[in-house]
Amino acid sequence: MTRRQAPVVIASNRGPVAFEPDERGVLRPHRGSGGLVTALIGAMQRTGGHWLAAAMTDGDREIARREGGRMTIEGEAGPIHLRFLDLEPELYDRYYNGVANGMLWFVHHYLWDTVRSPVFDEGTEESWQAYVEVNRRFAEALAEEGDRAPAEPVYLVQDYHLCLVPRFLRDLRPGALIAHFSHTPIAGPTYMRILPIRIREALLRGLLGADVLGFHSPAWAENFLMSARGVSGVRVDLPRSRITLEGREVAVRVHPISIDAAAIRRLAATPEAQALRRDLLRWRGDAQLLLRVDRLELTKNIVRGFLAFGEFLRRSPEWRGRVRFLALLSPSRQDLPEYRAYAEECLAAAERVNRTYGTASWIPVEVRLRDDYLGAIAAYGLYDVLLVNPVFDGMNLVAMEGPIANRRHGVLVLSRNAGAFGRLGRYALGVNPFDVRETAERIGEALALPEHERRRRARGLSRLVLANPPERWVGSQLEDLERARRRRAAR
Ligand code: G6P
Repeated sequence: MTRRQAPVVIASNRGPVAFEPDERGVLRPHRGSGGLVTALIGAMQRTGGHWLAAAMTDGDREIARREGGRMTIEGEAGPIHLRFLDLEPELYDRYYNGVANGMLWFVHHYLWDTVRSPVFDEGTEESWQAYVEVNRRFAEALAEEGDRAPAEPVYLVQDYHLCLVPRFLRDLRPGALIAHFSHTPIAGPTYMRILPIRIREALLRGLLGADVLGFHSPAWAENFLMSARGVSGVRVDLPRSRITLEGREVAVRVHPISIDAAAIRRLAATPEAQALRRDLLRWRGDAQLLLRVDRLELTKNIVRGFLAFGEFLRRSPEWRGRVRFLALLSPSRQDLPEYRAYAEECLAAAERVNRTYGTASWIPVEVRLRDDYLGAIAAYGLYDVLLVNPVFDGMNLVAMEGPIANRRHGVLVLSRNAGAFGRLGRYALGVNPFDVRETAERIGEALALPEHERRRRARGLSRLVLANPPERWVGSQLEDLERARRRRAAR
């Protein structure tokens, strides 16, 4: 067996499926959506291997106990070997809500209002200890899974939930080939200094246990390199994107993830999606459609999106009655108070636009608050303008899915702070997500673009998305690990 076919052992907080009871109370797996799961499932089916994830639902926990944590699930293209880690709910809450979502997500997306938050205290320390403990358990379970593999495996560790895993796993299996991939942006070194020094150092050293660190955009890779320069005993070679510590080398690499375009087009062609599209066409009437599709998420900048639309309507009275803004928002992280408050702010901002500009026959904004992937795919088909304006975003897959499913040469208005901008920016209209005035201008510009220009941009966008198939993302990481193995052997 050549090393490229080495079995893959994946670790991510959220697994490829979650178990929920059906009408008869029988636990059934539901596939998690999103590019991460799709890309990783593709990799596993090519190479064989195992997937370790935290049990997140009560159903997952029950299954984890019943099956001793390990199970095989029939995926669309072959079996997936899955192991759920059954973590005590309180420990999990501190690790997931307290640190991963409450601290790391905030730092890497620059979400704090630093006059008032964060305040780190005793509670932070307790949560941090839980994060350390969960990461340790992931590393131990990974080592066990690796030992069961038929040949020496490679480990693919995912995201900010598991920053300490590379270090712990390195201690347990010094010769292991380990990659870690960050799906978020990475804060620059100055902003990272908000974190307590011990936590910042532990996170950086934890990641540096890997052989390869992957990011979606050169900007995030650069931020990591700059932060790593502050860690003692670490040498950073910026031009070669390489870090040396403890006599080992860590390669810092950029691999933008992509989407499964064929799967999206198949879904868009189903009778169910077509029926939803017909409903939307009736709802839209003669107006043009401005669309946004997002998790109801602090980073997505939903409130400023509505402010920008209001500003556009204020300056362009000729458009009133001729455009409708549909916001498809799926609820997210409602355990965190910041998210509950933000949901209310979003609804209030939409309502203000409707009160100011709406008439008896025209409601400018409609917000649909539910988890409805098929509804989003249907809506993608119809937009004239797609607004993707996150404050910061690791990549952003909506900016890719939209152009793949759209049938009207719709225009993409895209935040320059999304990783996707680096790939798609030249065919999008770029915005500074904090600049409501500029966003309003771009919405107007997008709605008024001549047909030939819309077509040129829409074609350019789908071409760029199609040119980067999802297999490439995993394939490149496996190649990086192979190079790391050869470098190590040559030393
Ligand atoms: C987004 C981010 C990922 C992250 C995921 C976690 O999709 O891009 O980096 O892993 O959120 O979401 P969850 O719902 O599992 O907390």
